[in-house]
Amino acid sequence: MFDKPLILVAGGAGYIGSHVTVELVEAGYEVLIGDNFSNCDRTCYEGVKQILGREVPLVEIDFCDRTATDNLFATYPIAAVIHFAAFKAVGESVTEPLKYYRNNLLSLLNVVESAERHGCRNILFSSSATVYGEAEVQPVTEQSPRLPATSAYGQTKQMSEDILRDVVASKGLVRGIALRYFNPIGAHPSALIGELPRGVPNNLVPYITQTAVGKRQMLSIFGGDYPTPDGTCLRDFIDVVDLARAHVAAVTRMVEDKMEQPYEIFNVGTGKPVSVMQLVEAFERVNGLKLNYKIVDRRPGDIVAIWADTSLAEQKLGWKATRTLDETLASAWAWECHLAEQK
Ligand code: UD1
Repeated sequence: MFDKPLILVAGGAGYIGSHVTVELVEAGYEVLIGDNFSNCDRTCYEGVKQILGREVPLVEIDFCDRTATDNLFATYPIAAVIHFAAFKAVGESVTEPLKYYRNNLLSLLNVVESAERHGCRNILFSSSATVYGEAEVQPVTEQSPRLPATSAYGQTKQMSEDILRDVVASKGLVRGIALRYFNPIGAHPSALIGELPRGVPNNLVPYITQTAVGKRQMLSIFGGDYPTPDGTCLRDFIDVVDLARAHVAAVTRMVEDKMEQPYEIFNVGTGKPVSVMQLVEAFERVNGLKLNYKIVDRRPGDIVAIWADTSLAEQKLGWKATRTLDETLASAWAWECHLAEQK
């Protein structure tokens, strides 16, 4: 049925999953998307098919459903699974922790269990730089200590890493890679897929683009008195297409049997700190517009600064971020304009 290795992208209709699907197909893989559209609509799925000029098989499935997940792995010859099917709003996870523990952990348990049972050896998990917390030394390496999580969202990332690590170590039937993303931003150069937050965005770049397009009145910059060069927080903003290509490199490392250890972790960032203010100014310059913003109080729970040491991914995955911040911010704006045209 499938000539090329089949990759199950769990949560493939979402922001990162849709970009990964495009890059995987362009790299020569077959993709099966599994999604229940609980946190996205069909916009990105339609965009993926338009970019690729072909159908991409989709199964509507809730990975919290153990039987359905097991049936999926029993039905398809899945060479590797990438697990994106999780909730990601940090603030909501503090007010509704059970929702996060149930969804994010149950889906991971089901995916790992079914993969192991049905001979799918390769599991890629989307983790987050949130596991490092407020690290004392920057940039953070994969060896930097994981600090106690301050949200249920962060807890589920740490716990999921541990679950995968333990299952890999137990019977040797599966192997795993955890990719720790820094701050994914931007959109595909086609502007046909991108980030589509429901309701008021929590994250910086969607808030910027929605302010620029007139959907929001003003961007609040949270905190101008941090101990950083311009007083705003420092982050490592990674282009979503670059991020997607890191997944292709990691999947290839798995399916081609090139892993050096059965469980590996890689940082996926640019290695360059950029301040919130620098990002806002770059967005204005690149897109030739003025943004309505003001500096307000700090947002509780924000860390001052974090950026990645990316040398391990460079060495072992042969991967490095290539898109410039300007390209990325132009793509984020093109995507917002594309959405506005659809209305
Ligand atoms: C958070 C999570 C991270 C998750 C990411 C994407 C933590 C510590 N971080 O990252 O794990 O992967 O979201 O979901 O759990 N900002 C503003 N105004 C805004 C929005 C943001 O000034 O309207 C600032 C923030 O204060 C922060 C920076 O922009 O300094 C980035 O914020 P955001 O995009 O929300 O990402 P993080 O909090 O870094």
